[in-house]
Amino acid sequence: MAKITVDGQQYEVDPKLTVIQAAAQQGIEIPHFCWHPKLSVAGNCRMCLVEIEKMPKLAIACATQVADGMVVKTKSEKVINAREAVMEFLLINHPLDCPICDEAGECKLQDYSYKYSVGYSRFEHDKVHKPKRIELGPRVMLDVERCIMCSRCVRFSDEIAKQPVLTFTQRGDHVVLTTFPDTQLDNPYSMNVIELCPVGALTSRDFRFKSRVWEMSSTESVCNGCARGCNTNIWVRNNEVLRLTPRFNDDVNSYWMCDEGRLNTFKFVNSEKRLSGPFVKKNGALTRVGWDEAIAEAVSQLKTFKKSEMAGIGSAYATNEDNYVFQRLMKETIGTKNVDVVPHVKEGDEDDILIRADKTPNMLGATEVGVKPADGGLSLKGILQGIADGGIKALYVLEDDIASIPEIAAVLPNLQLLIVHSSVQNKTTEMADVVFSCSTYAEKHGTLTNFQGRVQRIRPAVSTIEQDRALDGFSMSRWDKFASRNDRWGRPNKRDARPSWRIASAVASALGAKTRYNTAEDVFQEMATRIPAYKGLSYLKVGSRGAMIQHSSKTVSSRPTVSV
Ligand code: SF4
Ligand code: FES
Repeated sequence: MAKITVDGQQYEVDPKLTVIQAAAQQGIEIPHFCWHPKLSVAGNCRMCLVEIEKMPKLAIACATQVADGMVVKTKSEKVINAREAVMEFLLINHPLDCPICDEAGECKLQDYSYKYSVGYSRFEHDKVHKPKRIELGPRVMLDVERCIMCSRCVRFSDEIAKQPVLTFTQRGDHVVLTTFPDTQLDNPYSMNVIELCPVGALTSRDFRFKSRVWEMSSTESVCNGCARGCNTNIWVRNNEVLRLTPRFNDDVNSYWMCDEGRLNTFKFVNSEKRLSGPFVKKNGALTRVGWDEAIAEAVSQLKTFKKSEMAGIGSAYATNEDNYVFQRLMKETIGTKNVDVVPHVKEGDEDDILIRADKTPNMLGATEVGVKPADGGLSLKGILQGIADGGIKALYVLEDDIASIPEIAAVLPNLQLLIVHSSVQNKTTEMADVVFSCSTYAEKHGTLTNFQGRVQRIRPAVSTIEQDRALDGFSMSRWDKFASRNDRWGRPNKRDARPSWRIASAVASALGAKTRYNTAEDVFQEMATRIPAYKGLSYLKVGSRGAMIQHSSKTVSSRPTVSV
């Protein structure tokens, strides 16, 4: 270990670290633009200048390795003057268009202007004007005037996304960021440059001008686009999800997420196709009914079949809690052994960064909590064969549009009873006799288990109608109450949806089972006592970064975690 002194305080640090890394480990902030913990060092912004004893000039903390006996000053007059000069220099040609810039509120340049700059400019001449509104790729927009040439985006594309298409051209204050001729920024991870960019030069074409950042709430969640389960934040305004951003977790996704997950896993939450509540088929047409009527209808119809004539399909999209209560309903209360889950694997659509071929967030979790055939029960193949032969007459499906798979859709008309949990109208709900409208992953508490065996928590970011939210143990603010009753145009909230575990539990109770859970955490606590893989876990232990289960399944990949 090397002994160093930073601002008069002595620390023992790893001698392989740079000054900025060693300081960060001790909780000392050295301002920086171009340095990023997961990228190579460029050393071009000069914002991290510090004073080091025995060095004739100020040194950049991001590229200076610590040495035993080193004495560093991060707040001396010399350092403060240098920082102010760097800020003045960076702002000379910056357009200062914060009032219309998407980055305002989360912009490093804006924050540092308050913290580390003198607050005025001596520059009285015309600024250099550069190209604006450049479509850098299909998902990212560039405003060159705002760029401070930190090269983070260039290094990310080169080192992480392995698509080196960005570069600088011209010299001095005429430098511009651009793509090589006949190329564009179009790779599966291209949108990560938006958060990497310390200013508002790179913005999302999907999110641009939709909201100021301070108007949105941000809730920790997990992406449901594939088995990786990248950690995310869900950004919401007026009860509407507007964007997803990656959340740092070194064990899962580092600082990144893929564009597919970022753009295509939240729009269904706001969709016009959301179910307005439970439905029951009457005279051949699905009719909107109340919850009690839908549960009573499902129960009375289920009672007309023999145990061996029924089967259940769990869901690799639903949470562990949903699947656990569902399999208890099927196996213990209804008494069928025929329970399984449908895999959704896109062969070949996988890489060694984040993307997994399994396009569901919880295949491992669903099977670990018991969504698999009981001894002597039918697996998915057997269930489908049974439906085709007429042996299986009633099917209960949890959160999976199984009718979108042609082989399954072909046999479903043979069923006498189809009960479905779904949050949106789809091909399966069209064929169903009873439809329960369930909450999406953005509206409930729960856990998902990724392909590594890491259990991760999701939390409600938007609300369904008030009574459901209140049932789930929330204390709602007046604004939340308003937002839960109305959408952004003041129209009534149509999301009369409940978490699947609560619906399955209500059906089990109506069938005479004694189990009752008040919250998703109650379900998890029971799982932690009854399922060996989850033994000893709790929501507290899972926390923000997740916790490993003691997995037994062969579906867990032996590959190391993300390589970035
Ligand atoms: Fe840095 Fe942003 Fe400019 Fe890229 S666009 S060089 S990330 S300031
Ligand atoms: Fe050190 Fe930019 S952070 S030079």
